[in-house]
Amino acid sequence: MKTYFKILFVMTVIAGCTQQVKLEKELVNSNKRWWKESIIYQIYPRSFNDSNGDGVGDLRGIIQKLDYIKSLGVTAVWLNPIYASPNDDNGYDISNYKEIMTEFGTMQDFDELLKGLHERGIKFVMDVVVNHSSDEHEWFKQSRSSRDNPYRNYYHWWPAEKGKPNYRWSFFDEKGEAWKYDSITNSYYLHYFAQKQPDLNWENPKVRQEVYSIMKFWAEKGVDGFRLDAFQYVSKDTTFPKLPKNFEKDINKYYGMGPNLHKYLREMYDEVLSKYDVFAVSEGAGSTLEDAHSLVDEDRKELQMAYHFESVGIGNKLEGYKLSELKKSFTKWDTSFAEKGWISIFLNNHDNARVVSRFGNDSPEFREVSAKMINTFILSMRGTPYIYYGDEISMTNIHFDSISQYKDIAAINGYKKALSEKKDMDAFMRDLNFTSRDNGRTPMQWDTSTNAGFTTGTPWLPVNENHKEINVAAQENNPNSVLNHFKKMVKLRKDNEVLVYGAYKLLDENNEEVYAYTRTLDGKKMLVLLNFTNHESSISVNAAKKIESILINNYSDLINKNGKITLKPYQSVICSIKN
Ligand code: NOJ
Repeated sequence: MKTYFKILFVMTVIAGCTQQVKLEKELVNSNKRWWKESIIYQIYPRSFNDSNGDGVGDLRGIIQKLDYIKSLGVTAVWLNPIYASPNDDNGYDISNYKEIMTEFGTMQDFDELLKGLHERGIKFVMDVVVNHSSDEHEWFKQSRSSRDNPYRNYYHWWPAEKGKPNYRWSFFDEKGEAWKYDSITNSYYLHYFAQKQPDLNWENPKVRQEVYSIMKFWAEKGVDGFRLDAFQYVSKDTTFPKLPKNFEKDINKYYGMGPNLHKYLREMYDEVLSKYDVFAVSEGAGSTLEDAHSLVDEDRKELQMAYHFESVGIGNKLEGYKLSELKKSFTKWDTSFAEKGWISIFLNNHDNARVVSRFGNDSPEFREVSAKMINTFILSMRGTPYIYYGDEISMTNIHFDSISQYKDIAAINGYKKALSEKKDMDAFMRDLNFTSRDNGRTPMQWDTSTNAGFTTGTPWLPVNENHKEINVAAQENNPNSVLNHFKKMVKLRKDNEVLVYGAYKLLDENNEEVYAYTRTLDGKKMLVLLNFTNHESSISVNAAKKIESILINNYSDLINKNGKITLKPYQSVICSIKN
């Protein structure tokens, strides 16, 4: 009798587990979306490939490289803004949303590019910059011309007779002031970014209709996704109350998630997103996990994917970072989004210095292995991975010494501000040298020729000297290159749904050297081991006793003594595990 109950108990447990697995499977299956399975390659168009020798990358330049992009295996491309722009902030200051920037080409070039991508099975993500426009946009020209102009309300104005408006901090202003006095109408206008980037007034329904019309224009052309620039800031309390001292230290809390943001996102969803097979990802995700969920959970009918900054910022300290901090951040976000919502996975973009210089090790000895390790990491996490152009070949920081070498408005105006505040300028320059956005914007390194094959003219930003060693041509022919490792890793992800949807479990949480985790789906299990240090490091995890095969490795072997694994400097492996 006892045995009978034992068997019954075991059977019930097994049935329970099977039921659980079935439920999990159903949940994953019903939540599958093409954009969750995407691998997004981000191109900074100014720096990718110049087809006409003016020193600036352009759309035809990208068209020439379509087969290269295809060869990477990536499934979507996000281009930074390509609209008409005076380029105060390299295209993030738009003067016409339905035209292409002259330096980048024509609308015909755009159509050809989109067609070329689609013919190769690659989707296209358009950058939408509508928290602000350029001050050279016709709307702003009209708006500033008189107080009763029909476009006046397209922007935020504060009449000077009411006194100075309450302080607002600006990201790029040389004085850090977001209100700019304009004598034409004796009023101040608001610019969270540079003076030439006035903030649009989203509280005005006409502005919102203009934005939806812009998005529809591009959706009708066939774009597959939208990346919404600085979007969490669009809705504002237009009484502009006084904010606490030092509010800028926690800027997203005060500028993000404004009073009507959800209302506007729902409206955008109804008017645009729901009508096309597109996804939208907003830059920034509020300041809490709850904020992020409120933006992207499917039942909210707002956005589809969160793009938060917590992890990417960890690598910005000159003195380095602690691996536990990185693990904590990635694990926290994964756990929170395990069942609902979806996140982006990235450690780099055009607003950061190079990933291998910040998170890996760009010394000649370790650059390649550490770059492969980082790519293994990004491409083996749950969420949609974004790879910034050049990271597939381990491009590094350029290291400018003098402010005259910098082109980025954030660097130049930041320098002026630090100078006027009598900051320690040596410390400022050391930090800039490491973290500047220009580090990550140098031209793509195609080959060993002059200017790395990027242009026949004078490049708008110098090409890194190290293009003689780090370039696509050399790496394409080397089976052990960072580039070929990247392609293998992309293929591994595409061939294994477990790397896309599988549950993530952190192992050996407090290990400061090795990042270890498993991914599990439908009885399939993978173990990922990443040594984040420049020396050997060992780790013992149970899963290592059940290794079936090594699926990718940035070294030729793996030392495994009965579950105790010794990883070489920056060694990264993914193994399949008996479940
Ligand atoms: C965020 C973009 O990523 C950055 O490059 C730009 O400077 C600001 N938004 C302003 O548009």
